Amino acid sequence: MTPLHKVIINKNTKINPIWIMRQAGRYLPEFRRIRKTNPNFINLCLNEKLSSEITLQPLKRFNLDAAIIFSDILMVPYGLGQEVEFQKGFGPKLGKINIEKMLELDEVDFLAKIDPVYKAIKKVSTNGITKNKNTIGFIGAPWTLLVYMINQQSPKKALKKNFYKDKFLIGKILLILEKFLKIHIRNQIKNGADVIQIFDSWAGLIDERDLPNYVYLPTLNLVNYVKSFNIPVICFPREIKSYKKFCDIVNPDAVNIDYNVNINKILKKIKIPIQGGLDPKILLTDKENLKNKAHEYLNIFKDHPYIFNLGHGVLPETDPKMVEYLVKMVNDY
Ligand code: CP3
Repeated sequence: MTPLHKVIINKNTKINPIWIMRQAGRYLPEFRRIRKTNPNFINLCLNEKLSSEITLQPLKRFNLDAAIIFSDILMVPYGLGQEVEFQKGFGPKLGKINIEKMLELDEVDFLAKIDPVYKAIKKVSTNGITKNKNTIGFIGAPWTLLVYMINQQSPKKALKKNFYKDKFLIGKILLILEKFLKIHIRNQIKNGADVIQIFDSWAGLIDERDLPNYVYLPTLNLVNYVKSFNIPVICFPREIKSYKKFCDIVNPDAVNIDYNVNINKILKKIKIPIQGGLDPKILLTDKENLKNKAHEYLNIFKDHPYIFNLGHGVLPETDPKMVEYLVKMVNDY
């Protein structure tokens, strides 16, 4: 059994596996070298030779317990026919939604558009480097994808006015997402993903009364779908008002916490395995501070099944030496 599975499935508290969100990314010079000659991010995700190579880059440097496939949550809107572009310094930019076309789209056309993602997963999961390690597949949660699809860009702190105006359109998009996210999950698992993480990066933007419709129910549906394959599912409802309530209702196999979560309090409230939490900005300070802060997490969770990770993605300006130091420290703890 892999270390992640031991923690998530067997609730082992003696080991502390580690992987890092955005572990394959711009803080690595070998990634930047590839990126320089591949300015189109979507095309890079659709190049299975390069995307599998990028996925394995951090595992060649550090003793991580999982590979997470180099792709993006926005590959699903892209597969649905919406234009998706990544502009330097701006983030994702999406085109207008053609809902009629989306409603007509069938599975074959969707899969044909993003097929290299599955080929990359196969390459990664069958590579010797991932032996006794997990290959993590992922999706964006319906709510977060809805936000990008309607907002057409990152919402930063707030949604655009009129976001909720067309309830019929929202309902149709959620139905489409449910169907194709299941297809995406199934094909990632079929090609070797043995953990699925659901990223709900904008769960914190939603009013309490809207959580059941937009977060709890659509996510619960997908969590149950992943569980039907006997594959563990980790949810990351970033900055949600109550992680406890989320876990009680959605009941994923593990939950990733953000860096604003009070870990002493959460330890008492949540029974399922916990992942993550450390503020990625700590990696921009010094080794002493990094060690102290990382030890806080390891000490507080010493009798709780815990997977080390950050509270959000590693920042591009991070020195790879600090990541190396962190991984080694957690390995040796
Ligand atoms: O974690 C990994 O190493 C796996 C790959 C991965 C990426 N994005 C690669 C990526 C994963 C799991 C994601 C998830 C993702 N994508 C989320 C959820 C997690 C989160 O960050 O909240 C979201 C919201 C997105 C959408 C997205 N993709 C944004 C907002 C951006 C631009 C911001 C940024 O960091 O540049 C991206 C681009 C992106 N996705 C990059 C990477 C490595 C940077 C691409 C580059 O310019 O080189």
